[in-house]
Amino acid sequence: MLSEKINKVLNNQIKIEAESSQAYLAMACWADTCGYEGAAQFLFEHSDEERQHMLKLIHFVNTRGGNVEIFELSKPKGNFENMKELFEALLEHEVMVSENINNLVAVTFEEKDFATHNFLQWYVSEQIEEEALARSILDKMALIGETENGLYLIDNELKALTTGATPSGLAQ
Ligand code: FEO
Repeated sequence: MLSEKINKVLNNQIKIEAESSQAYLAMACWADTCGYEGAAQFLFEHSDEERQHMLKLIHFVNTRGGNVEIFELSKPKGNFENMKELFEALLEHEVMVSENINNLVAVTFEEKDFATHNFLQWYVSEQIEEEALARSILDKMALIGETENGLYLIDNELKALTTGATPSGLAQ
């Protein structure tokens, strides 16, 4: 059984993951419109992954006898100056998510809820990977440069990071 406090912070994390999914969906649409095919595919897939993070939390709360609350989401930023600004926003967003996960883990100690503590370790590891990935993309951009050729190379690099699965909801 989840304590009221743990239930509340998990519901807040469900909202954050849903907002992450929406944020990357808006970024994917911008990249698609600008003709960055690889970046768009990467971001559509990333949006799907965030939805999976949200669902994983929902199933956990339900399994532990808690109550899931689905909140209204804030409108994500849908316009960017360039790819660099987009990936800086993505990194900033992931850093915010990591901070929230860390706070959540701290609450599990306070509440002596070690089952939720164990469950959250997956998110702790995932955040390390996600931040590292965003930083490596920005590093590559700095290295290759933001010329047209440079951006073409970056876009191809991003495509190579995708699974190639059809973005959910899109007919091909
Ligand atoms: Fe699920 Fe990228 O945070």
